[in-house]
Amino acid sequence: MATRILVPWALPESGRKVLKKSKLRVTYLHGPAGELPTLVELIEAVKEADVVLPRGTQPVPREVLVANPALRGIANYGVGYDSIDMGAATELGIPVTNTPEILTETTADLTWGLLMATARKIPQTHNFTVSGRFTAPAGHPFMGMDIGPGGSNRPKVLGIIGFGRIGRAVMKRSKGFRMKVIAYDPPLREMIEKTRGVEYRELHELLKESDFVTLHCPLTKETHHLIGRNELELLKPTAVLINASRGPVVDETALVSVLKEKRIFGAGLDVYEKEPQLTPGLAELENVVLLPHIGSLTQDTRNQMAIVAAKNAVAMAKKKKPRNLVNPEVLSRQEYLQKVSG
Ligand code: DGY
Repeated sequence: MATRILVPWALPESGRKVLKKSKLRVTYLHGPAGELPTLVELIEAVKEADVVLPRGTQPVPREVLVANPALRGIANYGVGYDSIDMGAATELGIPVTNTPEILTETTADLTWGLLMATARKIPQTHNFTVSGRFTAPAGHPFMGMDIGPGGSNRPKVLGIIGFGRIGRAVMKRSKGFRMKVIAYDPPLREMIEKTRGVEYRELHELLKESDFVTLHCPLTKETHHLIGRNELELLKPTAVLINASRGPVVDETALVSVLKEKRIFGAGLDVYEKEPQLTPGLAELENVVLLPHIGSLTQDTRNQMAIVAAKNAVAMAKKKKPRNLVNPEVLSRQEYLQKVSG
C-alpha cells in the first residue's frame, strides 16, 4: 500500500504543494473552517497513517502514538513540541521533527510588539479612541511605562528568561532602546556571559532588577510554573511581564491575582496555561494585552514553516533521516530500526 501522510488540520498551500509533489498518499482531516479533529477522530485516522503532520500546539498524546504500531514520524508544524508526548514517541521508535529557525525573527518581532503595546497601553487607548470617549487628550488611566531611557534618561532593564534563538533575537532588538540587558538560562550561562552587552543573573535577581521580563524558554518539567506567586512578588511594581513562549511557564492564577492587586504594571500574553481557555478574571483586567498565540503568524513565516514541516514528513515517509529531528536518540532504538528496515 502507498505510504500515507496524515495532515489533521488545514496546512497552508505551500506545504500542500510539497506533499503533492512527493506523490505520496496524503489525507487531510479538518472541518470546513479548519476545525481540528477530536482526539477520537485523530486516533482513528492515525491507524491509516505512516507519518502525521500536526499543527503546532495540536495535542499528540500517547493514545495517538500507540494507535498505529507502524507509525514512523511526527512532523510538527512549529518549533515547540511540548504538545507531543516525546517520552512515548521515543520509546515507540517514532522520530519527531519541528520547524526551528524560520520563525525566530517573526516571534521576536511579535514579542516587541506585545511589550510596546503593554507598556504604552496601545490596545486600551485604541478602544478608548474608537469608543467616542476621546473628547480631550487622554490622561492618567493610560499612563505608560518607558521602554527607552525616557525623560529621566535612565536606561531600562530588559530581563530575558531563556536565551535560545528567540531570546537572543529579542535581545538584538533591544539595542535601539538603549536598554540594559540581563538574562537567565542555566544551560546557556556561558553563552550569556560571552555575549557582549548581556549580563547573567540568577532568576530571582533578574526578576528584582528588570523593568521588563520576557519569557523565551521551552515548556519542560523544569520550566512549568517557573514564574509562580513567589517570583511574581519579586517584580517591581512598575514591571511589565511578557510571555510569548508557553502558557504553563507562568502560574496564570497567581498572575491574575498579582495583576488584580496591581502589584505589577501589566502583562502581555500571547500564550495561556490552558490554551485556548483563559483563567477566569484575566480577560476583565485593564492592565493586560492578550493575543491569541500569534507569535509566528505571518504569511511569509507560516508558508516557510509549512514547507519545512512537509519536507520533514516526506523524508520520514520515505524512511530517510529527516532534518530538524528533536529526538535523535530514537535513531538507535530497535523499534525505529525495525520500522525503517526493508
Ligand atoms: C511554535 O512554533 O512553537 C509556536 O508557538 C506555534 O505553535
